[in-house]
Amino acid sequence: MHANAIDFEDFELLQDETCVQRIIAAKEKLGKRAVILAHHYQRADVYRHADLMGDSLKLSYLAAKTDADYLVFCGVHFMAEVADILSSPEQIAILPDLAAGCSMADMANLSKVERAWRELAEILDPDEVITPVTYINSSADLKAFCGEHGGIVCTSSNATKILQWSFAQREKVLFFPDQHLGRWSGYKLDLPLEQMPVWDFDEPMGGLTEEQIKKAKILLWKGHCSVHQMFQPQHILRFRNQHPEGLVISHPECSFEVCKASDYVGSTEFIINTIREAKAGTRWLVGTELNLVGRIAEEFKSQDKIIQFMSPMVCMCSTMARIDPQHLAWALENLVAGNVVNQIKVPVHEAKLARLTLERMLAVSK
Ligand code: 13P
Ligand code: SF4
Repeated sequence: MHANAIDFEDFELLQDETCVQRIIAAKEKLGKRAVILAHHYQRADVYRHADLMGDSLKLSYLAAKTDADYLVFCGVHFMAEVADILSSPEQIAILPDLAAGCSMADMANLSKVERAWRELAEILDPDEVITPVTYINSSADLKAFCGEHGGIVCTSSNATKILQWSFAQREKVLFFPDQHLGRWSGYKLDLPLEQMPVWDFDEPMGGLTEEQIKKAKILLWKGHCSVHQMFQPQHILRFRNQHPEGLVISHPECSFEVCKASDYVGSTEFIINTIREAKAGTRWLVGTELNLVGRIAEEFKSQDKIIQFMSPMVCMCSTMARIDPQHLAWALENLVAGNVVNQIKVPVHEAKLARLTLERMLAVSK
């Protein structure tokens, strides 16, 4: 952090309305030098200030294309890392609150993945037989691991295509950290569930027998999203009983049972576009984060569409929501004053390997 940086303490107690005015003023002063990127799950009072919005894949393309000096990322940590990796070395990625992490990304780390690779090497040659595939919801060192071992990154929009690419390289896949996205994408490729066992990273050899590993097509890391695990098949059943004409759409981070019971499954961008293009008067049950569902419910009211949230519980990405108007105002006013706060900088060697896998992904998903 810059030595003369303005302290966050000065912003902590600012009223939201004051923050709005100060964010608008700071943006005006920064002009084209700063761009604000926001994921679809971002809270409304921050999202309203975004210049570029999207799902993880779209935001990766946008981050690689923008020529702004500062990329202020209103998402979670791994997204800001991707922006840093894909932008040029002079551009600066900023995460207004460093505590905005992804609990799923934290379920895999380099030591555990390296241990898995070593354990697998006891029964096969992983660099010959296994393509490591990391969901973009992972730290940069795991993307670098994939770069080093002939692997690739995927997002929820392109996971099936990425798996096809992976199987064209090697016969098996180690998929981390989200078991649900891996399982659903494998299922779409007609892989039987028994060929996609879960790799429990807390157990020796992932808790699997040699035979299970040899038979496996995809080894699914035992990770999940704490938000999407809240959606249950009985929520869908209740909706279908009440509204037999209604349609159900879910994110592939939901459990296999929820995805199977849904009419459509896809990324946040897919969810928005599918409902936007649907017939007027349709009713939808949506299994993804609450901020996004609330936003589209409002937006599509004018098209006479009724949009319901899947769970009776509040399921929010609470870590992403840590980026509040106070943190955004603080980060922007510091830029106006010539200070960079909360820069996300991936070490050069790691960034080089991670960039390789991200660019590989962008090329495969075109
Ligand atoms: P998208 O790929 O749909 O943006 O999803 C990212 C994510 O973290 C969902 O929880
Ligand atoms: Fe991570 Fe889940 Fe939040 Fe997505 S919704 S960023 S997977 S914690």
